[in-house]
Amino acid sequence: MKRYPFIAGNWKMNKTVGEALELVRGLKSSLQDMAEVEVAIAPPFTALFPVAQELKGSSIHLASQNLFWEEKGAFTGEISPVMLKEIHCRYVIIGHSERRQYFGETDATVNRRIKAALKFDLKVIFCIGETLEEREEGKTFTVLERQVEGGLKDLVEKEVKDMVVAYEPVWAIGTGKTATPEQAEEVHLSIRRKIERLYSREISEGIRIQYGGSVTPENIKGLMERENIDGALVGGASLKAETFSRIVRFKEM
Ligand code: PGA
Repeated sequence: MKRYPFIAGNWKMNKTVGEALELVRGLKSSLQDMAEVEVAIAPPFTALFPVAQELKGSSIHLASQNLFWEEKGAFTGEISPVMLKEIHCRYVIIGHSERRQYFGETDATVNRRIKAALKFDLKVIFCIGETLEEREEGKTFTVLERQVEGGLKDLVEKEVKDMVVAYEPVWAIGTGKTATPEQAEEVHLSIRRKIERLYSREISEGIRIQYGGSVTPENIKGLMERENIDGALVGGASLKAETFSRIVRFKEM
């Protein structure tokens, strides 16, 4: 099945509003004629609204790095799906390993956030990935199965249909150590099979699975050549228009 490639930039806690706008302008001009790849960027919260305005009329989609499951109320420091919807955010990254590692995110809270995003018609980039220790202990597939089951708990076919899964081995994030295309492909295939067992072949074949973890203009092509790798979630290399555009334009290499 042909799945439409999807490259997303996760800016994490980087870029002031001024810097964000400069980067977006750079991306708009270098990706102007880009049609064969879907692109999204996830700026920090303070930059979301100005970036949304700058993106009007562009094909680059806006993504949020997180959201809370309530619509409003006394939840200091959180952001609601309604607020994200209002500024035309299309995607939301949920369950990133940094959220799991530093901010107490669990499979159960990931599941609640996913449900809230879907309720408000936000598309989900659902992140999963094993740590180095888990990989070395041979637990990669068990951990990923648990994360998939937990994150998708109680969700029905039509809810997961448009979901994007991002496989990000924790040991490859920000470390310069990318999983080899073979390692990533093996895991992507196993994630697809897991989704097939939970839902159906039709669903699992349609879902896009991104790879994340030290993606660069140099390694993107080899990754994208693999059958089950449908895109990338890019951190460090998404912070410069020049490198991110080269990643998006992997087909031209
Ligand atoms: P990295 O981050 O590309 O800097 O490794 C990827 C991510 O965490 O999404």
